[in-house]
This record gives sequence, structure tokens and C-alpha cells, in this order.
Amino acid sequence: MKLAFAALLVCGFAQAQRKQLPEFVAGDQCLFCHRNDIGPTWQKNAHNLTVQPKAGSADEFTLGSRKHTRQLRKTGYGRFSIQEKDGAWNGSKFAERCAGCHTTAVNAETKVFTEFAIDCYACHGVVDLEHTNDTRLILLSKKNRGGASMITSICSSCHLRGGESKAKGLPYAYHFVPGDDLFADHAADLKKAEDPALNAGDRHVWRNVRDVLENNSETTCLSCHQVHANSAQKHRRVLTSPACLDCHYESGPKKNVKAYAAASVVCEVP
Ligand code: HEC
Ligand code: HEC
Ligand code: HEC
Ligand code: HEC
Ligand code: HEC
Ligand code: HEC
Repeated sequence: MKLAFAALLVCGFAQAQRKQLPEFVAGDQCLFCHRNDIGPTWQKNAHNLTVQPKAGSADEFTLGSRKHTRQLRKTGYGRFSIQEKDGAWNGSKFAERCAGCHTTAVNAETKVFTEFAIDCYACHGVVDLEHTNDTRLILLSKKNRGGASMITSICSSCHLRGGESKAKGLPYAYHFVPGDDLFADHAADLKKAEDPALNAGDRHVWRNVRDVLENNSETTCLSCHQVHANSAQKHRRVLTSPACLDCHYESGPKKNVKAYAAASVVCEVP
């Protein structure tokens, strides 16, 4: 066991591309044990709320947890249709264009998802239940936070809006499992980091991914963000770099922040 773990650390990434999705432990099982440490904040976390069942309805859901929302209707196991702006229901768009980033474990052949919204698996990967004795066995634990490119692969599997699966042509990652190298199949033109049309929300993501992949930067999403605490407080302590200017001015106090709207063509958010 020790040897296998060491080998994984040395090679970095576990595997390039998977034909099939692995089995994984679902979030409600994780939360049975983690109800006190993770449970309370998870109820309010945007990842958990990105698809929510509508009160009093068995087959209607809301997509989007913050400013912009869309309506979804369950059409079968792991399938939703999405309501267009004119009120009509589109039966294929959600599976083809959205599912990979707003639901968990999408089968690239059938485009059926396993869990609605974003489950623990999407970031922690396939969890060995032996982690209760040795937390090095679980990705993103205090003893196994992962290296810069590993973290970047995980968060980019959804946040690099505008990337594409080379094998499947989908606008979302194909059979990516945390621990794998996302960019083995995911094509992203990192020059987009300099695209002046990008809003600061997307731009700082593209810029950070480019800096990790091309410039060996050790600053990652997790240098600034805490997922469970839902906080970006840590970012104040990161060394000043050009990336700060996506949101701050070159001179003057840092409490001045540039306003931006997180508009996105990928998400059809105006
Ligand atoms: C499986 C897809 C997926 C993965 C993986 C993922 N995210 Fe997200 N993230 C989302 C989606 C979708 C939203 C927006 C949810 C909404 O508002 O509907 C989001 C929202 C966020 C937000 C905004 C939260 C808020 O309340 O303002 C932050 C910050 C964030 N993610 C950081 C991360 C980081 C850091 C990682 C890597 C550790 C990560 N995400 C991994 C899909 C993902
Ligand atoms: C969007 C990515 C993401 C999802 C989804 C996610 N986690 Fe995490 N988790 C992280 C990251 C990143 C850390 C490292 C600390 C942090 O950022 O909060 C972490 C840390 C933890 C920790 C250790 C706490 C600590 O202080 O380091 C536990 C326990 C945990 N997660 C459990 C869960 C459970 C249970 C679920 C599902 C209900 C889940 N996580 C879903 C990204 C995620
Ligand atoms: C049988 C109970 C149990 C289940 C089920 C379980 N965990 Fe844990 N988990 C623990 C215990 C015990 C620890 C070690 C003590 C601690 O740090 O909380 C732990 C530790 C962790 C850590 C590392 C915390 C740290 O200190 O760095 C993470 C991350 C985590 N679990 C995530 C998950 C996820 C994700 C799942 C579901 C796939 C899951 N756990 C399922 C009991 C459980
Ligand atoms: C240098 C620090 C830093 C780095 C690196 C960083 N972020 Fe951020 N990010 C921030 C700050 C600060 C905010 C604004 C937080 C706020 O408004 O409270 C933010 C906002 C966000 C938002 C919300 C955008 C919106 O308004 O809807 C998301 C999502 C996000 N970051 C994801 C990521 C991901 C994914 C990565 C890694 C690829 C990343 N960030 C890297 C500092 C950083
Ligand atoms: C994605 C946007 C974003 C990026 C990138 C960003 N910041 Fe911020 N920053 C904010 C927002 C929003 C606030 C106010 C809310 C907060 O504190 O989280 C802020 C507040 C701050 C503050 C506290 C100012 C005060 O007096 O209250 C400091 C210091 C700071 N940022 C430093 C940095 C540094 C250094 C970088 C680059 C490493 C950076 N920021 C990158 C959005 C950003
Ligand atoms: C590549 C992954 C990806 C794909 C594909 C994707 N989304 Fe998103 N979506 C995200 C992320 C990441 C966020 C959060 C971004 C942020 O806050 O910066 C988000 C946020 C959203 C939001 C909330 C925006 C807000 O401001 O509250 C809506 C609504 C949304 N997406 C709808 C869709 C729809 C509809 C589709 C399909 C047509 C889709 N998304 C496809 C990753 C994706």
C-alpha cells in the first residue's frame, strides 16, 4: 500500500484517458460521517446548489445558484430538458452543452449524469474509505493537497469555460476523474488569457491556469480560494502580480475593486 502511494506521488497523474467512469461513493454517504465538519456549509455551497429541486415538485429543478437561473425538467434517469428564453423546452441541449459542469459523472457516450449538482467526487475523486485511518489517501486532504498542476486540472475541469474535449468535441471534460491530467484530452487555447473581451471572473481563471501550465507558477486556485469555507480571504496574502490587476487598480488602495459581470457565452449568461 505504501509503495503504491509513493508511486502515485512520483508519477503525479494516475492515468491519461478513461473509457469508462469509475464507481464512486456518493455525497450523502460522505456526509453521514462528515455532517458536522462539512455538512453545515455544504448546504449553502454554490457547487451543491447549482442544480436544486424545486419545492413541491418531483421533476422540476433550477439551474444556477446565484444571479442567473434556468429551469430544468427531469426527462428520465440522468436526463434534463432545459427551458429556452421563449418558454419552449429543449430536450438535448442540457446533455450536449451543460451537463458536464453542472452535474456529476457524465457518461460521454450516453451523456447521462450520475448525480445532479456537483458531488464530492467531482473534486475529491474516487475516495478510498481507508482514508479514515490515513488521510494521505484522499485528494485535497490536509496531508495531500496535491501539486499545482493536479489542483489546476481539477478546478479547470469546469472553470475553464471555453475549453473542449479533443476526442468528443464536447464543451466539457470527457471522463475526467480528479487525479488525472485534464489536458490529456481537454484542449484550451491559453492565449485566451489575454483576450480583453473576457470578464475578470473568467480572465483570472484563464490567467492562473496559463501561469501554472506554462510558467510553472505555484500559485493555484487554492492559494486564494477555500471551497468549503466559501472564502477568498486568503488571496490578500498572495504576492502582488499582474493577475491582481484583473480586479484591482495599478495604484491606490486595494479596497478599490473593478466592477465586472460574470457574463458567459458557454453558460448563455448575458
Ligand atoms: C464539476 C464542476 C466544477 C468543479 C470540478 C469545480 N467547480 Fe467551482 N463551480 C462550478 C459551478 C457550476 C459553479 C457555479 C454554481 C452556481 O452558482 O450555480 C461554481 C462556483 C465556484 C465559485 C463561486 C462560489 C460563490 O458562491 O461565489 C468558486 C470560488 C469556485 N467554484 C471555485 C472552485 C475551485 C477552487 C475548484 C477546484 C478545487 C472548483 N471550483 C471546482 C463548477 C465546478
Ligand atoms: C468544488 C470542489 C469540491 C467539492 C465538490 C467538495 N470538496 Fe471537499 N475540499 C475541496 C478543497 C479544495 C478542499 C481543501 C480545503 C478547502 O479548500 O476548503 C477540501 C477539503 C475537504 C475536507 C477537509 C477539510 C479541511 O479543512 O481541509 C473534507 C472533510 C472534505 N473536503 C469533504 C468533502 C465532502 C464530504 C464533499 C461532498 C459533500 C466535498 N468535500 C466536496 C474541494 C471540494
Ligand atoms: C465511515 C465514515 C466516513 C465516510 C463514509 C467518509 N469519511 Fe472522510 N473521513 C472520515 C474520518 C474519520 C476522517 C479522518 C478524521 C478527519 O480528519 O476528519 C476523514 C477524513 C477525510 C478528509 C481529510 C480531512 C483532513 O483532515 O485533511 C477528507 C477530504 C474526507 N474525509 C472526505 C470524504 C469524502 C469526499 C467522502 C465520501 C466519498 C468521505 N470522506 C467519506 C470518515 C469518513
Ligand atoms: C490571486 C488569487 C486568485 C487566484 C489564483 C484565483 N482566484 Fe478566483 N477569485 C479571486 C478573488 C479575490 C475573487 C473575488 C472574490 C469575491 O468577489 O469575493 C475570485 C472570484 C472567483 C470566482 C467567482 C467569479 C464570479 O464573480 O462569478 C470563481 C468562480 C473563481 N474565482 C474561480 C477560480 C478558479 C477556478 C481558480 C483557479 C483556476 C481561481 N479562481 C484562481 C482570487 C483568485
Ligand atoms: C477576481 C478578482 C480579484 C483578483 C484577481 C484579486 N482580487 Fe483582491 N480583492 C477582490 C475583491 C472582490 C476584494 C474585496 C472583497 C474581499 O476582500 O474579498 C479584494 C480585496 C483585496 C484586499 C483587501 C483590501 C482592503 O483594504 O479591504 C487586498 C489586500 C487584496 N484584495 C489584494 C489582492 C492581491 C495581492 C491580488 C493579486 C495576487 C488580488 N487581490 C487579486 C478581488 C480580486
Ligand atoms: C465548461 C463548464 C461549463 C459548461 C459547459 C456550462 N457551464 Fe454554466 N457555469 C460553469 C461555471 C464554472 C459557472 C460559475 C462561473 C462563475 O461564477 O465565475 C457557471 C455558472 C452558470 C450559471 C450561473 C450564473 C450566475 O451568474 O449566477 C448558469 C445559469 C449557468 N452556468 C448555465 C449554464 C447553461 C445553461 C449551460 C449550457 C448551455 C452551461 N451553464 C454550461 C461552468 C459551465
